[in-house]
Amino acid sequence: MENNRAQWSSKVGFILAAAGSAVGLGNIWKFPGKAFEGGGGAFLLMYLLIVPLIGMPAMLSELAVGRASQSNVVDSFRKLGHKGYTWVGWVGWAVAFIITCYYSHVGGWVLRYVASYATESGKVYSDPLGYFYAMLGYDAAAGTTFFPLTVILFAFVFMAVCAFVIIKGVEDGIERFNKVGMPALFLILIVLFVRAATLPGAAEGLKYMLSIDAKKVSPQTFLIALSQAFYSLSLGMSIMVTYGSYLPRHENIGRNTALVCTMDTLVAVLAGFIIIPAVFATLGPDGVGKGGGFAFVSLAGVFEHMPGGVFFGFLFYLLLLFAALTSTVSLIEGIVAFLTEHLHWGRTFTTLLTCGVMFLIGCLYTCSQAAFPLKGIWFDFANGVTFPPLCDAMEFLTDRIMIPLCALGTCVFVGWTWKPESAVAEVERCGVKFKLAKAYSFLIKFIAPLAIIVILAVSLFTGTTLS
Ligand code: TRP
Repeated sequence: MENNRAQWSSKVGFILAAAGSAVGLGNIWKFPGKAFEGGGGAFLLMYLLIVPLIGMPAMLSELAVGRASQSNVVDSFRKLGHKGYTWVGWVGWAVAFIITCYYSHVGGWVLRYVASYATESGKVYSDPLGYFYAMLGYDAAAGTTFFPLTVILFAFVFMAVCAFVIIKGVEDGIERFNKVGMPALFLILIVLFVRAATLPGAAEGLKYMLSIDAKKVSPQTFLIALSQAFYSLSLGMSIMVTYGSYLPRHENIGRNTALVCTMDTLVAVLAGFIIIPAVFATLGPDGVGKGGGFAFVSLAGVFEHMPGGVFFGFLFYLLLLFAALTSTVSLIEGIVAFLTEHLHWGRTFTTLLTCGVMFLIGCLYTCSQAAFPLKGIWFDFANGVTFPPLCDAMEFLTDRIMIPLCALGTCVFVGWTWKPESAVAEVERCGVKFKLAKAYSFLIKFIAPLAIIVILAVSLFTGTTLS
């Protein structure tokens, strides 16, 4: 079974799976927070440059490596004859592992909010921030903390559903749901955008997103935008290589890349233009600092002030839940594909074991949000060793170090060792000439690796803005 690789049944199947992987919590939960941190307009501008200039070439490269090697991420470099790059695959695999630990828990939070809008929207409306904190085990009014059992149970259910999908291989069902779910998510985002933009006080937020603060045009902002782009596009190794390996030879990798990247970016930017104005309108400039809960806290003010708000709220979190589910499944798929092929473990056993371990590690993430002062460790040359909350440390580790490192490894591999010509040949297997081959080769050889090296070095030496 292990040597007989699955293939996508149809072209739509692949695009939906890749877009399903890309569009997730990263777009709606992370992007607005990062856009805020990066000064709004400055971040947006950098993000929109990074996607076509670095993100697209990187995605194309990962898909090409996957299809050429017909292998999971760790073995693909060896199969293409370059054992020295195996570490890149390992880092990529570890990225997926760490991300899934917390991603599945945030999926649990979303599930909690689906239930909240179904049963107690009044409670959410009356104190959005307090409700969010209470979910995470912190009673702001009394100043006491407790073990957030309810939300942990929700996270457990979320992880269990993902494991079920992976074990039963019901990706078909997911594909079918995606066909309706994705356009529906997009539509509801447009409705929310109109409502959020017309709330009193929202203009401040729109201005924030559209004006460029010169102070924020810095390497730090660039690093945040770069890692966010990779995160949002599901790059940084494990998944697009695996998906590429399931892609039939006649598929046009170039066109698929452009399509998936465009869809993903549209959703992210739209979410930014909903949530940032909503934050300004509902929490006011003082509440703006409360980053992590953007997608949960600020939207309550939007739903409260629209007809049928409870229904829209319920629907929104349901669609977000689905987006999170398809992304988590893709993350777990990358992890499990490697373990089963490499160690010859059974698929069911591997899935249950890894999901169990990741769920438990994720509990530390949820608990360190507000309930317990669990600390992680961090280092840069400007601030030395610091001890940020564990939840932040987990995200910093993947977003600011491991994803850029992995991306760098892939770019250098494809640009200098495997050579862009091989990737171009892989693209042209579908029988269509790759018109942007020259631009692609230049970007993947020079621009992408240089940008990543400079950004990594600068942020290591000047320190990242720790919140
Ligand atoms: N791209 C997803 C999001 O935006 C998250 C994700 C899924 C991911 N698979 C990945 C990130 C693989 C990095 C690598 O929410």
